Amino acid sequence: MLRAELHRVEKNNFGKADDLTIYTLLDDYAGYETTFYGQHGISFLIDVAAGNMRRRILFDTGQSGKSILHNVERMGLNPKEIDTIFLSHCHYDHTGGLAEILKAVDREVTVVAHPKIFRRNLVEKKDFRHVGIPYTKEEIEKYGAKWILDAQPRKLMESVTTTGEIPKEERVDFEKEVTLGLYTVEDGKMVKDDMLDDMSLAIKTREGLVVVSGCSHAGIVSITKKSKQVTGSHEVKAVIGGYHLIDAEDERIEKTVKNLKELEVKEIYTGHCTGLRAECKFLKEFGGRFEKLHSGKVLRL
Ligand SMILES: [Fe+2]
Ligand SMILES: [Fe+2]
Repeated sequence: MLRAELHRVEKNNFGKADDLTIYTLLDDYAGYETTFYGQHGISFLIDVAAGNMRRRILFDTGQSGKSILHNVERMGLNPKEIDTIFLSHCHYDHTGGLAEILKAVDREVTVVAHPKIFRRNLVEKKDFRHVGIPYTKEEIEKYGAKWILDAQPRKLMESVTTTGEIPKEERVDFEKEVTLGLYTVEDGKMVKDDMLDDMSLAIKTREGLVVVSGCSHAGIVSITKKSKQVTGSHEVKAVIGGYHLIDAEDERIEKTVKNLKELEVKEIYTGHCTGLRAECKFLKEFGGRFEKLHSGKVLRL
């Protein structure tokens, strides 16, 4: 994709997608009796047609290209058809496969992410191990990446935008704290990391807004609200991705489900770091409008 085709979002200058298919290239769960690989991480191929344009946007790259490329082949897709890559945040389970995927694409590709994606990101529970992107910016450029690092909402094509960063003060009360104990280094000191680089995609369709999130460290309710605001949408057709409630208190899970119901989200698709307790609650409250993601699952929206 030409850099000129990616531009800053001007409020409400959004057309709607005519056609949207989301391929789950990787999830922690491989599904029942499938030949797909499951691995901790997430990756989607978002195939969007709007007006006379069709783009295939790769959303996150899992932790290894090997698993994704295996699943891509099983799904009858071709990695060379990827037009743009979007990285939802720094974590290795969303960025680790980037080099191998760029090798498979084998040409220049625009990679969109937050400018802070290369910072140190340490997780408390694993002896402060670095869990951020396992590459430098320059290493990835050698494989043909053309970085667009932007903290603000950015339109990727007609009907598709990033949410931009969601600062702590813009998050709803119960989502102000990130559920994982994450730290970064500033001026030689270890400080709490608010995961400002956590961004999602918002896609406007004829049936309402579709929100796609990687790990939802900014909070899935805050992300959905920001997506509505950025695109000027009222109806929410679907919220898709990892909601990172696996280690959340029951109260936070309950508030999340309640708020998404109040936002009148029609369909919920969760996987990766959402966790069984939250998924049970979604199943109970959303019934047939809830589905669990797995590697190989195709969503035609
Ligand atoms: Fe994750
Ligand atoms: Fe994450």
